Amino acid sequence: MASHVIPVAPFDLVLFGATGDLAHRKILPGLCHRHAVGQMPADARIIGCARSQMTPEEFRDSVASALAQTDCVDNLDAFVACLDYVSLDVTGDRGWDELAARLRDDVVRAFYLSVGPGLFAPIAARLDQRGLATPDSRIVVEKPFGRDLASARALNRALRNCFGESQIYRIDHYLGKETVQNVMALRFANALFEPLWNCQHIDHVQITVAEKLGVEGREDYYDHAGAARDMFQNHLMQLLCLTAMEPPSRFEPNAVRDEKLKVIRALDPVPPEDIVRGQYRAGAHGRSYLEEVGNPDSTTESFVAMKLHVSNWRWGGTPFYLRTGKRLRERLSEIVIIFRDPPHAIFPRMDNRRGNALIIRLQPDEGVTLRMTIKEPGPGGMRLTEVPLDMTFAEALGADVEIPDAYERLVMDVIRGDQTLFMRGDEVEAAWEWIDPIIARWEEAGDRPVPYDPGSSGPEDALMLMHRDGRRWREIGS
Ligand code: BG6
Repeated sequence: MASHVIPVAPFDLVLFGATGDLAHRKILPGLCHRHAVGQMPADARIIGCARSQMTPEEFRDSVASALAQTDCVDNLDAFVACLDYVSLDVTGDRGWDELAARLRDDVVRAFYLSVGPGLFAPIAARLDQRGLATPDSRIVVEKPFGRDLASARALNRALRNCFGESQIYRIDHYLGKETVQNVMALRFANALFEPLWNCQHIDHVQITVAEKLGVEGREDYYDHAGAARDMFQNHLMQLLCLTAMEPPSRFEPNAVRDEKLKVIRALDPVPPEDIVRGQYRAGAHGRSYLEEVGNPDSTTESFVAMKLHVSNWRWGGTPFYLRTGKRLRERLSEIVIIFRDPPHAIFPRMDNRRGNALIIRLQPDEGVTLRMTIKEPGPGGMRLTEVPLDMTFAEALGADVEIPDAYERLVMDVIRGDQTLFMRGDEVEAAWEWIDPIIARWEEAGDRPVPYDPGSSGPEDALMLMHRDGRRWREIGS
């Protein structure tokens, strides 16, 4: 099944931080893929901006050699022909006139800030002062969006001084993942699940985002952030919102975001006994977190698990267990819906019965599994067994369907002017408002995370978080 490509309108995309890691690893390869499939119009232009002094030709060469290491080779020459470059000092005056001269008036204009968060506000202000932020232009900001409620509010204020909310695209790249969007498709395009999607039928929900890698060259940032700020406040919250939200009336940016916001606002405060913080120690699979970040006294967590309650009519009494961590056994992200047992058992009890479960695999091997109970074949009684009804999207859709990287989708949505998969300002603030007291409690108490072995599924205490409720996590990498 070939995917359907709808070309976007002509655009000028100004990429601040164009020589940086994210631009080279994600944004430019993503755009190159969209170019290859014919989604970018011939007169689309990407204007790289960075401090480095180089000519547009040199920039094109550097991008071409970076992309030559990836799978974007077929259309490389045509793609780099869309690139331009302006050497610019984002906090000074150098380069702004050149940038202004490059921009066209009759095409979509987007500014992508792939730079440190400290530069978001100064760049927005410059764009405004220089008259480059036209009423229809868009500004894209990466995470981290603040490190607490106060800083997120300040950043929202600074951006809104120069751009309207409908022009601001706050990226959470998890929302651009195909399977994350599939959570909405599964829930709201099938009549099958919705009648069961509530506390009457769902015993609990598990959300896991496990990474095999450690902090990998981002020691400074990560040691000041930790798993709660880096992953939980944004990616895990978004997964929780999509799983728990009410059906929006339309698939339209504010309708979707209103419903997500209601989920965050319905979250109960979390008592300390429902939270586990972990930090990996040294082990057969590598150095300890402390050695990796070069800070022997660090109390930053590389793992966090929590039991959450969404206090509303749909979810009363159905807990959500969320966990995320680095240096775990496998790279695995999934949402697991565990259904309640049938109200009355007519068959003999089955040992180790785990019950019906819907497993939404976000990565890798994107797909859905429904765990069912069936009769074990053979004569002699009615013995039951559990089997997976398994669908891998790549297989189901045909081998020639590529699952695009999140950034490909998100950048094209910016050009199309579709904010559905971007966080609204109040959503980000609500997530900080909820998690701030949790982080403040750790910081005030000098809380030390519990150690776990690299290559494991996290600290023992995280297993206990579920065991004590008579439940257990699905294995990471079983
Ligand atoms: C980023 C975090 O937002 O997401 C990283 O800052 C993390 O620490 C990454 O590794 C995970 O993203 P993905 O797409 O690899 O699951």
